[in-house]
Amino acid sequence: MANLTEDLFERARSKATEAEKAAPAAQRPEFEQLAREVEYHERAYRDGAPEITDAAFDDLFERYQELADALGVPVSERLDRTPGADHTEGFVQVEHRVPMLSLEKLSPNRKDSKGEPMPIAAQLTNWYDRRLAELEKSADEVPLLVEPKIDGISVSLLYDRGKLVRAVTRGDGERGDDITRQVEAARAVPTKLHGKLGGMIEVRGELYWPNAAWAAWNDRLEAAGERRIANPRNGCAGLMKRKDPQGLEAAGVVSFLYQVPWAEGVTLPATQSGVLTWLAERGGSVYLSEIAVTSDALAAYAHCEAYAARRGALPYDIDGMVIKIDPLVFHDRLAGTGHHPHWAIAYKFPPERKVTRLSGITVQVGKSGKLTPVAELEPVFVAGTTVSRASLHNFVELERKDIRIGDRVFVEKAGEIIPQVVAVQLEERPPGTVRYARPEVCPACGANVVAEEIFVYCPSPVCPAQIRERLRHFASRGAMDIDGLGASTVDQVVEHLGVRSPADLFALDHAALAGLERMGEKSADNLVAALERAKGRGLARVLVGLAIRQVGSTMAEDLAKHFGSADALLQFARRYVARDPEAVALVAPDKGSGAIEGMGSKSADIIFGELASASIVEVFAGLAKAGVKLDAELAVTQAVAGVAGKTFVLTGTLPSLGRNEASDRIKAAGGKVSGSVSKNTDFLVAGDEAGSKLDKAQKLGVAIIDEAELLRMLAG
Ligand code: IVH
Repeated sequence: MANLTEDLFERARSKATEAEKAAPAAQRPEFEQLAREVEYHERAYRDGAPEITDAAFDDLFERYQELADALGVPVSERLDRTPGADHTEGFVQVEHRVPMLSLEKLSPNRKDSKGEPMPIAAQLTNWYDRRLAELEKSADEVPLLVEPKIDGISVSLLYDRGKLVRAVTRGDGERGDDITRQVEAARAVPTKLHGKLGGMIEVRGELYWPNAAWAAWNDRLEAAGERRIANPRNGCAGLMKRKDPQGLEAAGVVSFLYQVPWAEGVTLPATQSGVLTWLAERGGSVYLSEIAVTSDALAAYAHCEAYAARRGALPYDIDGMVIKIDPLVFHDRLAGTGHHPHWAIAYKFPPERKVTRLSGITVQVGKSGKLTPVAELEPVFVAGTTVSRASLHNFVELERKDIRIGDRVFVEKAGEIIPQVVAVQLEERPPGTVRYARPEVCPACGANVVAEEIFVYCPSPVCPAQIRERLRHFASRGAMDIDGLGASTVDQVVEHLGVRSPADLFALDHAALAGLERMGEKSADNLVAALERAKGRGLARVLVGLAIRQVGSTMAEDLAKHFGSADALLQFARRYVARDPEAVALVAPDKGSGAIEGMGSKSADIIFGELASASIVEVFAGLAKAGVKLDAELAVTQAVAGVAGKTFVLTGTLPSLGRNEASDRIKAAGGKVSGSVSKNTDFLVAGDEAGSKLDKAQKLGVAIIDEAELLRMLAG
């Protein structure tokens, strides 16, 4: 979060061009559109699911600021970019003894006094010369240190007599959130420094998620039918803000320490390089082999460049290098601004960017009817994979960038994974291209589209593309988990068997299914059995399956638990949309939080609005008629002796079953699944890297079993 916010601040200072100052009013619509886009992408970023690169977001925000300046929008009315936005409710805020500042950056866009672009090496030489002049020293007396700049989240660690006593996020630089429990549970930093240490020190560093650990975590999420985490940095920030830190150890978050801003009763070496060695000797993670000391700015720059070339091969993400004055005695003398110190400067690597031709733009229709333009590209190799398609996000962005079919476009990857078209190479635009015209009708069903916020929707409830997407989602693992109902079977049942709603699926019989292409007798039997099993998954999974906006698996579980049944939930939704004061006060009170965690009045409006809609009510009626269980409690499909009536707790990663599946199977056999270990727990099912639940179960003498044992018990 830190790096993005900083960049926003830097961009926020940019000025409007003269032309814009001349014609402000005409720019109102663009400004308003941009505000919606910025808000949307900020939300996606905070939710850990960014859709565009940080650089693309910066461009967006820069343009927003330019227009805000041109239109004279008062600062108080602009989108709130106050630092400290990373404070999370429920976390104790702690004041930093020394503020956590940002770094000044060498910028590829800097111009000299004649308006000529200034090479980075020259900027670095200038910076160093200014420091030498300020200190009245020669280069030999002021060596520079070059360190990697890891792309993670900054953390301040307080050690008392060598023992970690507190970990705090950067927050707004003045105050951060106390994440001691999370950092400890994740085993991300040393909880004890080696050797005898009498006093107190603060160590600063970066928490980050190495690519391999992040990928492994994603594989597990996928196996459990959950959504992947798109970007390791945001993912790491999300993990460190988990209220329940149990199980964090399995994530493999690590640290990289880079500074000791103060020490009391501890004697430290006199240079930054000495401090890094000192930290390494005490068990801190610093990359000593990666640092270089030199008194030559050009050599420092060469080290940065050489590092940039190795970037893709490193096991972690670095976004650049930091060049620091090595002797600490000069740090106080150099001081700095309220934004950055003068004893360091950052060099940011440019993201890997390739050029290719945009051969077409197709439009996809999502399950909510959202139309998304997709770039069809001539295949190009970027950051490790060949890219031939990239989301263009929405039509507003496409129009703003004026991307045209036939253009040569720059392609980058967001968070190094999601391909993006970042800009058009305008000077290479072939003759005869035309501005892209957004669709006025849905490409799948021909209905007239409607615009809402920055998006365009197909409003038709009978649009076949939407029906297909919704059914695919309904059948997916995280939702109703209907084995054998993959994308192509869904397409076939829609096309040939007239399936339109989830309820229709449950009316499919062997004879109808066996007639489909590539569907043998056996597969048809299996699918009928899978549909039968899916009927018993319970209300929460049905809610996930219906893809109601703002209802992910946690919200679905909470709704199911609170209301107990679809009838009670739908009845409440009707009362809520009728603004029944009691209903509103329950879930969206004026003050404090409501009965359902994570639900504010905005999400309550959306969720209950959808649940009160005629189409959802109809879907639920159909499901009830088809015999789908719509209560929170799962149906006991077949009580299994030894499991029925017993309480299980799941912990760690199970080798083959996802958590959802294990839990469903226990419930189907008549067992209960609880989230925490107590004296009422009968069995703890422990997977790999089980954490504190395992310790507690051992203390309480609860029987501990592994997945194999659980499967044996379930088999009866
Ligand atoms: S020194 C006054 N050294 O980058 C700030 N920062 O853009 C002194 N970072 O907030 C920071 N690697 O979270 C420093 N080797 C390194 C770093 C580093 C990553 C982060 C840090 C800081 C941000 C500033």
